[in-house]
Amino acid sequence: MKTNDQNRLKYALASDVMPGGVNTSLRRFEPHLVFARAEGATMTDVDGNQYIDYQAAFGPIVLGHNHETVNRRVQETMQNIDLLGIGTTESEIALARKICRHVPSAEKVLFTNSGSEATYQAIRLARAVTGRKEIIKFQGCYHGWHDAVAMNVITPADQLGSRQLLSAGSLPEVVEHTLVCTFNDLDDVERTVADNKGQVAAIILEPIPHNIGCVLPKPGFLEGLRELTRLKNIVLIFDEVITGFRHGLGGYQKICGVTPDLTTLGKAAANGYPISVICGKRELMDRFNTHADGDVFFAGTFNGHPVCCAAALATIEVLEQESTYWHMFGLGERMREGLSGIVSRLGLKATVAGFGSVFLTYFMDGPIESYTDLTRNDAGMFVSYRRKLLERGIFKLPMNLKRNHISLSHTAEMVDQTLQAAEDVLRELSRSAKKGAPAMEAAS
Ligand SMILES: Cc1ncc(COP(=O)(O)O)c(C=O)c1O
Repeated sequence: MKTNDQNRLKYALASDVMPGGVNTSLRRFEPHLVFARAEGATMTDVDGNQYIDYQAAFGPIVLGHNHETVNRRVQETMQNIDLLGIGTTESEIALARKICRHVPSAEKVLFTNSGSEATYQAIRLARAVTGRKEIIKFQGCYHGWHDAVAMNVITPADQLGSRQLLSAGSLPEVVEHTLVCTFNDLDDVERTVADNKGQVAAIILEPIPHNIGCVLPKPGFLEGLRELTRLKNIVLIFDEVITGFRHGLGGYQKICGVTPDLTTLGKAAANGYPISVICGKRELMDRFNTHADGDVFFAGTFNGHPVCCAAALATIEVLEQESTYWHMFGLGERMREGLSGIVSRLGLKATVAGFGSVFLTYFMDGPIESYTDLTRNDAGMFVSYRRKLLERGIFKLPMNLKRNHISLSHTAEMVDQTLQAAEDVLRELSRSAKKGAPAMEAAS
């Protein structure tokens, strides 16, 4: 970083008028940065420091910032139409048709604005169709900010096994109907379903829990959930808000061959424009009262906004070009291989993880099958590593267990520059650790 004066000054202004100076709690981190520009794979703060961005706004930026195709389509749309709030627009029809074509579980589709709204609606729909109250989520998965699911993501080890709420003010009457299971542990899920016989409405999960980095499902786990839910008439919800579009146009469900009843999508769907999707089986989706016979309330002033639909259509069209995933996955592989080489050269206790365009380095030995394993991650090392990379112009959010994303705009040169910086930082950190110096910081 060259200087930090403007960042400090503007952050003080922000803090005067916004609690904590940010609009999402996870945007509050040290050092506080105020951003002025973003283009391609880079972003620039108000002091003129440029960063290679692997944060990608927590995942939406899949093509790169300010992507030309998306920008052009958005501008064209703005010249013709804006929000009408009545009837249907052509872009909603075109986008819904595209999603039905690509996502295996999508027979019908509805749009809303954020991932949280989509998961809220999916859970409400599951409760309506089953007439049951309980839902099962998994420790380590995040599904948004609403009471039913805002719990048990990055939970302190001493609170594992109990409900750990993310927010004060959550209604106990809502929270107590959420049961928390261990990812990749089918026995645990079967036991929980048996203990709550005839009461479980839905099982909701990230098919790859990316909110704790990248924990891959064990062979048979997702298939086992599908079989169990089919047998017990439980609605299976894949929350593909991160995995959808980032790992493939059909989401992870297309890759793993397991088709859920309902799917939620968001983030990468429109390369940064706010749109989310709930889609699934026709007979379930027709219960929403957008349908004349439906009785599950579905509304939202901004739902299906033409600008966001246009951005999503443009994003999907770029993703439909074969070379797009080939480029992103190729760079993901280059990054993971490079990091694994560094880890073994330096003899570090670390595990490089990832899938497709997602990568990260845990500071612990594998295997990693669930959040419980991740309580062994050296959080201090994880955060220090990322903070030192940030000082060298590589932006990975310096918080424990956060993943990184490669976009279509990243290049092999950027990956190699990142690997060089990673090797320098890790060598420095491991040298200080050997000397017993306090190089590691506490995790945020
Ligand atoms: C898997 C998953 N589901 C749902 C959400 C909530 O999405 P939003 O922040 O758009 O409300 C997130 C957000 O990070 C997520 O990662």
